Amino acid sequence: MTQLTAAGLTLELGPDGPLTQRLATALRDAVRAGSLAPGAALPPSRLLAAELGCSRWVVTEAYGQLVAEGYLQATTGSATTVRDLGGVAPLGPLGPPPSRPRPRYDLTPGFGDVSMFPRTRWLEAYRRAVMDRPTAMLADRSPVGTLSARTVLTDYLLRARQVREDPTQVVITTGAGASVGWISRVLHTLSHRRIGVEDPSWSGLRDTAERAGLEMVPIGVDDQGLRVRELDDHPDVRVVLCTPTHQFPLGVALSPDRRLELIKWADRVDGVIIEDDYDAEFRYDRRPVGSLQGMAPDRVVLVGSVSQSLGPMINVGWAILPQWLIMRILADGLDAGTGPSVFGFEALSIMIAEGWYERHLRALRTSYRRRRENLVSAITAMLPDCTISGMAAGTQLIMELPQGVDVAAVVRRAAGNDVGVAPLDRYRLAADLPSALVIGYGNLREDRENEAIGRLAAAIRGA
Ligand SMILES: Cc1ncc(COP(=O)(O)O)c(C=O)c1O
Repeated sequence: MTQLTAAGLTLELGPDGPLTQRLATALRDAVRAGSLAPGAALPPSRLLAAELGCSRWVVTEAYGQLVAEGYLQATTGSATTVRDLGGVAPLGPLGPPPSRPRPRYDLTPGFGDVSMFPRTRWLEAYRRAVMDRPTAMLADRSPVGTLSARTVLTDYLLRARQVREDPTQVVITTGAGASVGWISRVLHTLSHRRIGVEDPSWSGLRDTAERAGLEMVPIGVDDQGLRVRELDDHPDVRVVLCTPTHQFPLGVALSPDRRLELIKWADRVDGVIIEDDYDAEFRYDRRPVGSLQGMAPDRVVLVGSVSQSLGPMINVGWAILPQWLIMRILADGLDAGTGPSVFGFEALSIMIAEGWYERHLRALRTSYRRRRENLVSAITAMLPDCTISGMAAGTQLIMELPQGVDVAAVVRRAAGNDVGVAPLDRYRLAADLPSALVIGYGNLREDRENEAIGRLAAAIRGA
């Protein structure tokens, strides 16, 4: 996005596409945002064209398009003016929605590298799922998929995450968010009204629990992970949502003592732990710790998805439920909500069975590890006053800023430098957090780490 002023107009011109379209979009956005007020006269096309350094035709075309859409009005012999929309924003022409380009140096957390998506393998797996599976499957909208696909998944989860289950305990969903929303609805019907959530944590999951009717109760996190004892301050809380293997965003693991404490808490209150197994496959210094579910399959619901490994567009996730919960769901006939395309799940099971999924994970792991090492070296060299924390895992690290630096100003200045980054307090509910940035490297192209940190350092110096 380039901001420029021409003939008295301030416009945000996008980087891609023909200039006529970019100009029309900038003008339309300005009218919608109110920075071009009803009745305002646009500069004569000749003048605007001269200042933009383009042909007059470009400007008359853009004006003409917005007149046709109803944003502007043209009267012969006088200036083109902004129409009074009376609070109604007319629809633009049908076309691709305006996409905000991601920053060139993208340190925003929560994104995996979709440019590494194994297109050929996925296509082959999907082709086989469509060609080889029985015709009856075409009529199926089962939330559990086929037994063979579920068995492949449970074998994989046992191998990779030490998850203890059998295929009857799997429900397939469109992702971790969908799983948490659905489980929260089920728990609501079982009289749960409040849910403990990590503070800080990703709003994407906890909000789905809230939308399902559970009130959120923030529970603090320290260098040992979730502060389990705080749960005792809330006797009416018997469900907790957490990321034991790799806390998002702080990047700590739940310590062995706290793992046991949490399971004991759940036993004592007859509670449920929802384990978000997000990015657990990515640990760089040693094997990831096994899932909490493997230690307490009767107390833990494990949710996972391929959003971080293949991409959120695949829309495949799973929930592994304790037997008693499955029994309740079956007995009460509770609706499992919307599952993903059964073919999508079948294709994933073929990717796993062929070894393609784990090969892809290895490639991602190698690349993410390198990015992390390069980022850590760059930060150590260029920002020696900043402190890095978070395990060598996942796709994000925490960078604490020196005292007195205004985090919001850093984020703003970084954005102006084409660097996307998130402040730690974006993930907070009530906790007191240090002034820090969450630096994601899932979507940062390898070899851009030094430039990204150089630009971020400039934003910090200028803030
Ligand atoms: C902490 C956390 N859990 C889970 C997910 C994945 O959610 P979903 O499977 O709904 O895409 C994300 C995605 O960014 C996340 O940040």
